Amino acid sequence: MWTYASQYKLAYFYVIGAVILSETANIVVPLYYKKFFDLLAGTQTLTADERTSGLVGAIVAVLIFHAIGWLLWRSMGVVHNWLQPSVMADIVQSAHASLHRHSYAFFLDNFAGSLVRKVGRIERAYEELTDQLQFRYIPLAIMITGNLVVLYLRHYLLAVILLVWMVVFIAFNIWFSMWKMKYDAKRVEIDSEATGVLADSIANAVTIKLFTGFGHERSLYQEVTERLRRMQMLTWNLGEITDAMQAGLMFVIEFALMYTAIHFWQRGMLTIGDFALIQGYLVGMFGKLWDLGRAIRKTYESIADASEMVEIMEASPDIVDARGAKPLSFQGGGITFQNVYFSFNKTRRVLKGLNVAIEPGQKVALVGPSGAGKTTITKLLLRFYDIERGKILIGNQNIAKVTQESLRAAIAVVPQEPILFHRTIRENIRYGRPGATDEEVIEAAKKARCHEFILELQDGYNTYVGERGVKLSGGERQRVAIARAILKDAPILVLDEATSSLDSESEQLIQQALHELMCDKTAIVIAHRLSTIMEMDRILVIDDGRVVDDGTHSQLIRHKGGIYKNLWEIQAGGFVN
Ligand SMILES: Nc1ncnc2c1ncn2[C@@H]1O[C@H](COP(=O)(O)OP(=O)(O)OP(=O)(O)O)[C@@H](O)[C@H]1O
Ligand SMILES: [Mg+2]
Repeated sequence: MWTYASQYKLAYFYVIGAVILSETANIVVPLYYKKFFDLLAGTQTLTADERTSGLVGAIVAVLIFHAIGWLLWRSMGVVHNWLQPSVMADIVQSAHASLHRHSYAFFLDNFAGSLVRKVGRIERAYEELTDQLQFRYIPLAIMITGNLVVLYLRHYLLAVILLVWMVVFIAFNIWFSMWKMKYDAKRVEIDSEATGVLADSIANAVTIKLFTGFGHERSLYQEVTERLRRMQMLTWNLGEITDAMQAGLMFVIEFALMYTAIHFWQRGMLTIGDFALIQGYLVGMFGKLWDLGRAIRKTYESIADASEMVEIMEASPDIVDARGAKPLSFQGGGITFQNVYFSFNKTRRVLKGLNVAIEPGQKVALVGPSGAGKTTITKLLLRFYDIERGKILIGNQNIAKVTQESLRAAIAVVPQEPILFHRTIRENIRYGRPGATDEEVIEAAKKARCHEFILELQDGYNTYVGERGVKLSGGERQRVAIARAILKDAPILVLDEATSSLDSESEQLIQQALHELMCDKTAIVIAHRLSTIMEMDRILVIDDGRVVDDGTHSQLIRHKGGIYKNLWEIQAGGFVN
């Protein structure tokens, strides 16, 4: 946090300095009240006039110190109100940036909701920690030191009593907070669980309706909220115990100090003013110490909250550019997979020595059973994952040795399940090429057969598509994704089931557009509907992480007992023979 805060050193020093000084004023004020009451008690031999002017002098001094404290505090507030939001903005921006440095796999392993919460938490943790430091710990430290020094000068025993009490009070608070923390942690845990149940049931609202599952959902939610209620009661009651102990300790010290003071007063070592001084200090101290336990707990919690995000910010991404990586210089090169081995985890190997050489400009289809590894092949080409063994080349450049950005800029992808931003359709399409003009966007939309349905939407191209694009049908979403890829116009095109959600007529129309799009590009097309890939230059049959057959459509349907021939016969329904 200091990394971010230190960008604003001057402002910080002002804030801390102002806090220290105005707190010092709070220590000085009771000294003038001591003087005031000593004058009132009239132990010194003074005339009435001298006494009056002394009294007025004392309260004027009090006024001046209050005014200085007030001025410092208010001006500190202004600086603080500028400083804290600035640092918080820096932190969340940096958190956002460091999230997006992470790999594709990172986002599969971490729920979006939980990442969003972590960013929110580090922001609040910073606020909480700086507030505690500036407005609680520093003032408290100044006050304790000041009070001890002043009381020591009155009589050392007063300072000793106060010091011993402080140690007991703070030690009790820290110990009790630590002990209570496990119950607080438990409560937070149940609280997140309850939020999870709630969020899950909202996300599945449609399923709940379809299966009339509300009764079940209600009892699930009741069960978890009931546990939360019980835990909440327990932690609140423990808080009650802390309060009771604190209050007890407070009247003990009040009695101890005043009792000792009476003793010394009897022997003429303290004056009446000293009682006012002690009272003044006690009142100030009790105010600051009252919820120290809660503050300590909050501090620990904030540190825990922040550290989750800090871990992510400091972790090095699993996919990084090689040292001295150059941008990919694409000069119409082909794509080569050389003996590629890959597994997502130790037990499940997806690619087992894949060898594929795609000529420049060739249009290749990947077919094969579900789960064979087709999508995985395209993800490896994009370097979403690093491979275990072998090489992937574009032209003669190893994709692991070029910058990720240039690699991905050379490939346009229409994914199997496209997800859109909750932005307008226009912005979603333009994402393919941020510099594109409105005309180019519309042109691409027309080619992808989006234009007609977009015009029928409420706000045309300015219609918002809902979270992840849920307000569009599956086929519409696919067409937007195709338009986006058309606009990107990258030399390599990857279509992963790009038209699977379309009816046969729309599909045929888009196929034409896609064929035009592919004509000067190297293309990898994945499809289950074989009729859409019959005209490819080459069809690779993938099974169990290897290429098991390779050829044109007419070659492959002659391979007796081959996977392709089987698939073809099933899909053609026996009519083609
Ligand atoms: N992130 C992942 N973590 C672990 N295993 C994965 C992951 N993604 C895919 N797999 C597994 O890898 C295998 C290949 O998946 P892939 O998506 O490449 O299949 P596919 O050939 O594209 O299938 P489909 O035709 O159904 O789209 C599957 O068994 C799948 O379960
Ligand atoms: Mg797939």
